[in-house]
Amino acid sequence: MQTILFIMGVSGSGKTTVGKLLSEQTGIPFFDGDDFHSTANIEKMKAGIPLTDEDRAAWLQSLNQLAKENETRGAVIACSALKETYRQQLADGLHHVQWVYLKGSYALIHERMLQRPHHYFSAAMLQSQFDILEEPFHAWVFDVQEDPHSIAASILKHFVMQSDFGIIGLGVMGKSLALNMAGKGVKLSLYNRYVKGQEEKVAEQFITHNPILKEAKAFEDLSAFVQSLAMPRKILLMVNAGAAVDAVVEELKPLLSKGDIIIDGGNSFYKDTERRIQELNQYGFHFIGAGISGGEEGALKGPSIMPGGDATAYSQVQPILESIAAKDKSGKPCCAYISNGGSGHFVKMVHNAIEYAEMQLLSEVYAVMRNGLQLSQDAIAAIFQQWNEKELNSYLLEITIDILQTKEGEDWLLDKILDTGSSKGTGSWAVAIAAELGVPAGMMTSALYARYLSAQKQTRVQAAAALSTSQASVSISTEQLQQAYALARIINHVQGFELIKTAALKYQWGINCSELARIWTNGCIIRSTLMEQLTGIVSADNLLLHPLIITSIQQQLDSLTQTVTASLQSGIAVPALCEALHYIHAMSTEQSAMNLIQAQRDYFGAHTYQRIDDASGKAYHTQWKNEN
Ligand code: 6PG
Repeated sequence: MQTILFIMGVSGSGKTTVGKLLSEQTGIPFFDGDDFHSTANIEKMKAGIPLTDEDRAAWLQSLNQLAKENETRGAVIACSALKETYRQQLADGLHHVQWVYLKGSYALIHERMLQRPHHYFSAAMLQSQFDILEEPFHAWVFDVQEDPHSIAASILKHFVMQSDFGIIGLGVMGKSLALNMAGKGVKLSLYNRYVKGQEEKVAEQFITHNPILKEAKAFEDLSAFVQSLAMPRKILLMVNAGAAVDAVVEELKPLLSKGDIIIDGGNSFYKDTERRIQELNQYGFHFIGAGISGGEEGALKGPSIMPGGDATAYSQVQPILESIAAKDKSGKPCCAYISNGGSGHFVKMVHNAIEYAEMQLLSEVYAVMRNGLQLSQDAIAAIFQQWNEKELNSYLLEITIDILQTKEGEDWLLDKILDTGSSKGTGSWAVAIAAELGVPAGMMTSALYARYLSAQKQTRVQAAAALSTSQASVSISTEQLQQAYALARIINHVQGFELIKTAALKYQWGINCSELARIWTNGCIIRSTLMEQLTGIVSADNLLLHPLIITSIQQQLDSLTQTVTASLQSGIAVPALCEALHYIHAMSTEQSAMNLIQAQRDYFGAHTYQRIDDASGKAYHTQWKNEN
């Protein structure tokens, strides 16, 4: 069991008997704490003088040392461990600890002790133990009146019955991940909160309706859920990002033991993850912020998983996470340790921002085809189908084709969907962080703002009437549009990875971008042939300047320019395509006009500027206007 099992309770509660039985039945060594007392302690007890905290300090330390030495094979240790502080000393630095408390009344145990007159701990001293006894919160508790054989059997059953992994939150993603894990043979405990009339017996019903979960256990009581897990406990949170995560963590804190691992699998803000890691570290708990992408289907069949946090803690959950992850083309799991701190949630945030721009580009291309080229929905789907068969293949293009082909009765369902965008946060965080880090990330920004702008439906309708805008036909070919789309996608990925690289430098995360691109080749929403191609080159110092990217720009820039120009002339807003074009031009402008802005800043605010004829970087200020 590779666990240190401490059997605790006052003297005379039967710890040694139960411990020896367990040892006999499992082959795990048994140690009687009484054998480790110093001669001075034994003499003191023989003299009928109760031990003090100071007397016990060295003894507890030697038992803790003993436990550490036996941690790899496991051990059963009998020790009174009367106070919480004693138990903390005993468990200090251990990873797998389980407490068993043999509980009984003073009268009963006193009676028993009278029957063992030769023990150095006399019955007369029992009251001194009851006086300081603090009952444990997290122990398996047994009545001393129960037969020791039956207690030992129950303890063994507890071990066998313990779950490998716990999931809190049975929304769509939590349920799909649970089914995925159960299919991989992971023994699960599932918890969903109880909300009268709304969320009742969620876990129980979920298990009942899914035979694959027949081994899983359902809980609505968090304490029982925690107790059901083998230590160190591994608990996946699948609750809404933000306050809900903090609330669950607060509830869990008093129930956990040192070394337990919480994995937050939601779309949490990475700075929240950093804070939670630090806070929980103070208690000896580990917190892993894991980005999980793939939606409901991905979670069920194999998501892409981006875990970040303590590397040693990750190694303990790695086998389970890898077993449920999607596999790349060579069969490797699309799950890889990202780095420490909030790095896992950071890269998931950028993943989502790339996703925003990928979706925006598809919607712009659809707009140009629908409004500018006046193509039917069938025709658009057919063209996308052709694109998807070759280099432009992607999950998002695939689902777009499905969407375009979906009818409701005689009508296209798409035509019935209100054109106002919504979002849940990751896109806006990424844009804000790109600004904070000084990274030009116009693609994701334009995609985010396109959603915000679309949400102002009423103003749009009024402005359309007031300005009598109309969208004229566009004079470009679908081949040009295809090239424009392909190039804009490349720029989107360049910007996304540059954002990750800048953050990795700032936060000292050793992120391997090739490995990150690899785990994004399957399972996640932005999986694509382009991502596969990027795997080999994305770690380049400056991705934009990589020869393959430069060649793509040279080959497709003309089409992107034509597409943007023609779309704007026809009155079709294409902000993400525009941004891609703008980025290429701005990044390849050797002498920009920023000199004028620097001069303006110096003029009104004495912000100073640097001169091209002084490489020292010295700050210059000019008195621009002679006041006289
Ligand atoms: C994923 C998705 C997923 C979710 C987005 C949607 O990787 O599986 O990105 O996390 O669909 O968070 O985000 P918005 O609601 O902000 O579009």
